[in-house]
Amino acid sequence: MKLSIKDLDLKGKRVFVRVDFNVPLKDGVVEDDTRIRGALPTIQYASEQGARVILASHLGRPKGARVEKYSLRPVAAHLSKLLGREVAFAEDCVGEAARTKVDALADGDVLLLENLRFHAEEEQNDDAFAKELASLCDLYVNDAFGAAHRAHASTAGITKHVSQAAAGLLMQKELDYLGRVINNPEHPFVAILGGAKVSDKIAVIEALIERRVDKLLIGGAMAYTFFKAEGFTVGKSLVEDDKLQTARDIKERAQAAGVELLLPTDHQVVDSYEPLKSKKTIPIEFTNAGLVGLDIGVETVAHFSRALADAKTIIWNGPMGVFEEKALGFDQGTIGVALAVAEAADRGATVIVGGGDSVAAITQAGVADRITHISTGGGATLEFLAGDELPGVAALNERKDEG
Ligand code: 3PG
Repeated sequence: MKLSIKDLDLKGKRVFVRVDFNVPLKDGVVEDDTRIRGALPTIQYASEQGARVILASHLGRPKGARVEKYSLRPVAAHLSKLLGREVAFAEDCVGEAARTKVDALADGDVLLLENLRFHAEEEQNDDAFAKELASLCDLYVNDAFGAAHRAHASTAGITKHVSQAAAGLLMQKELDYLGRVINNPEHPFVAILGGAKVSDKIAVIEALIERRVDKLLIGGAMAYTFFKAEGFTVGKSLVEDDKLQTARDIKERAQAAGVELLLPTDHQVVDSYEPLKSKKTIPIEFTNAGLVGLDIGVETVAHFSRALADAKTIIWNGPMGVFEEKALGFDQGTIGVALAVAEAADRGATVIVGGGDSVAAITQAGVADRITHISTGGGATLEFLAGDELPGVAALNERKDEG
């Protein structure tokens, strides 16, 4: 077990807390603050314990240059509102600007450093840069589960230069819930996977089959690769032609392992997407060469909901259609699944949801408070579920008493 922030003596210490504040911003306003809220328990705890809290994060992919639209300044303002206290902001994450602000902190104060990725050395896991970050603090805490699959200076390298490197409360919660799903799921265990590409999910699918998931429900555009692999006409729907054999292999492996693989039975199609023409819902087998599929149909939502009826553990990652096209109604399949998993949770199932669009659907459907755990990770959640060791977790100290 990893060392926890709760194991540290924080009073009067400068504590560097790596958070994942990689949130969507529009015109300087935070559009979705799920990740910021996720880190609040750690920030509040550290502050209450009298730590001088130094928060650091990346935002977007500025490629080592100072790009104003990726500044974390608006996030500091938003965090300040959520915490109900002032959050100081340093114009840089290293150098004089950072040091002056750190030196000005009193016990319990909170400071947010500017975007780590304004320095190319962050993503290069440059040792001198990691050492510079470490020089700002006495103790290190990683609460950035969403960035734990990256071996960067602030998630990995820095731990070599601090006396103690511990997991934050959000990090612990994510590892606990996701760890239970992969190591000890209560059966029946059902996984719902969606999104555009099979290639993004192969490792997770394989790990789930290996861990004896009972049912695998596949929606989203990735289902078309499975359909085409079986010889169905999929029209102009999105397909990964180089993954047809992979889809066949997955189907075979699922069958051999006794895993039930469920694909959509109907879908919403159009003659053309731009401009939108002739939207209708049809059975999969009625698809002709001119059509493009953009969402699962109502029959599939019912079919998938029935498959969840007796589930004790459910993991969901990825939308069922082009969820972002709300105005055109292609969010309906994903919303339908959001409602179905919430009902399963009401019946007592452990329901874990991860991935931007699935989480957005949960929020849009108004069922977020009924879900057991909403993961703040995107790629990190998928890599963890695939059984990979996350560098940001591996770099943390073990608890001494647990070995
Ligand atoms: C994410 O949004 O998944 C994390 O913040 C990691 O971001 P990255 O993919 O740019 O490393």
